[in-house]
Amino acid sequence: MKKSMPKKFIWWKHGVVYHIYPRSFYDSNDDGIGDIKGIIHKLDYLKDLGVDAIWLSPIYLSPQIDFGYDVSDYRQIDPIFGTLKDFRKLLEKAHKRNMRVIMDLIMNHTSDQHPWFIESSSASDHEKRDWYIWRSGKNGKPPNNWSTCFGGSAWEFHPVTNQYYYHSFFKEQPDLNWRNEHLRNEFFDIVKYWLDMGVDGFRLDVANLIVKDKKLRDNPGFFQMLNQTQPVYTRNRPKSIKTLKLLRKLIDKYDNRMCVGEIYTLPPGDPKLAASYLGSGKNTLNLAFDFSLIFKRWNAKLYGQTIKEWMSQIPAKGWPCNVLSNHDLFRSYNRPFWRLHKRQKAIVAAFLLLTLKGTPFIYYGEEIGMQNSRLPRRFIKDPIGKRFWPFYSGRDKARSPMQWNKLRNSGFSRGEPWLPVNRNYYCVNVESLKEKKGSILYFYRQLLKIRRKNSALYAGEWEFLNDGKNGVLVYKRFNNEAAIVVCLNFTPWNKTVNVGRDWEGIILLSTHKVKKHLIALDKFSLLPFESLIVEVINS
Ligand code: GLC
Repeated sequence: MKKSMPKKFIWWKHGVVYHIYPRSFYDSNDDGIGDIKGIIHKLDYLKDLGVDAIWLSPIYLSPQIDFGYDVSDYRQIDPIFGTLKDFRKLLEKAHKRNMRVIMDLIMNHTSDQHPWFIESSSASDHEKRDWYIWRSGKNGKPPNNWSTCFGGSAWEFHPVTNQYYYHSFFKEQPDLNWRNEHLRNEFFDIVKYWLDMGVDGFRLDVANLIVKDKKLRDNPGFFQMLNQTQPVYTRNRPKSIKTLKLLRKLIDKYDNRMCVGEIYTLPPGDPKLAASYLGSGKNTLNLAFDFSLIFKRWNAKLYGQTIKEWMSQIPAKGWPCNVLSNHDLFRSYNRPFWRLHKRQKAIVAAFLLLTLKGTPFIYYGEEIGMQNSRLPRRFIKDPIGKRFWPFYSGRDKARSPMQWNKLRNSGFSRGEPWLPVNRNYYCVNVESLKEKKGSILYFYRQLLKIRRKNSALYAGEWEFLNDGKNGVLVYKRFNNEAAIVVCLNFTPWNKTVNVGRDWEGIILLSTHKVKKHLIALDKFSLLPFESLIVEVINS
């Protein structure tokens, strides 16, 4: 069967994205914090791993209250990460290796140290007053019952102008008013600034929060445990989608660029909602994150249902993306539902992530099976960890330094790392796992290679042959060049599988069987947690 690249390899659809948390990736100047030069230093590792693009969590100038998600200048790089010159170099070096660079774009809020907010808060009649959401209180209380995503009132009183401002997150992160056209124009100029520089795309932070109800209606309900109201008037307002459509128009003026939105929902995620941000598939976001799979129990049937639901919601001209974890969540290896057989499950999950239809996003370290760090209180840096300790230790556990080798600090830094390196680094590190057949890294590398070679995997259609019955997922990826069958045994037991067709195939990759062997797909067995990819030769 002829195997060639499809006419056009669209990097954000067909490629694989690697999410870097820059503070924790590689420290080039030994100050304990990862930086841009560090990322440049590791580009060859990423190229060799086989990823097509990197997404960087924010590196703009910031007081770092929320570790960069509080921006004080969108056109500058924070000195802890380097300079604009370093960033330009990163772009150049990545592009030279045919890799793309995606920046995080925080549209919902700025830092309270941003000059816009300083001006806006200086006087009630300042021309930038309306760039943020200001309101007078009601009988000495906040304007309404809206709460922050971390719980508690979302209104902060500002004595200078005797009004409250609205903040979805920390009080140091005032929300912008996207109903104001001047703000929008100014913000879109920032987007142009980075696109003109050569940035390939944006991950849009909390894209579904950016516009709030104009009338400021009270939210219904109250969740005692979260100290939060139900976010009916503060999330997913139609005007957010309209604004994202305008952004897409702007991005589409440039060649080959994209945006992927974080669609922020509480567990268990919401595929329909996330997919609604794709619009027709051509006019809103290029990709949208749905986090449903992340919150599912380890169970083939539940995974099957969730995947089916997600795929069925994607508009005809749209494209899915898939993700196992990020900087806000648990390391995928430590999913609460993966209590036993974690390593085997992580490998099954890797097969799933890299063979499903859609753009895979790999969170740094996932490829070596990095695990949550257990941090005592004194090491906690995340403000929500500090606030909710000991009930919730925050997000630091998934942000520990990348584990490169067995040396001091796992080769991340020669200084004191900003967060401790996970104690398991002696066994879990790139250098040790790279050559180890059967390691997680071995399978990530193999999977990325196979994916790149087979257009049916990166660009093809998708169909379930078994959606989880008997603890096994079986699906077909196909186009006019090939048909590939993927089988995943979610259980610690042997399973007999029958794909229901009289097919034969060649094994492309398996956790247990030998590659390149012929296999009859009408009836075969899978060993516990076996994953298998087969190219059909007689479909
Ligand atoms: C997003 C980010 C998270 C941040 C929040 C506020 O959810 O992923 O890290 O704290 O937005 O910007």
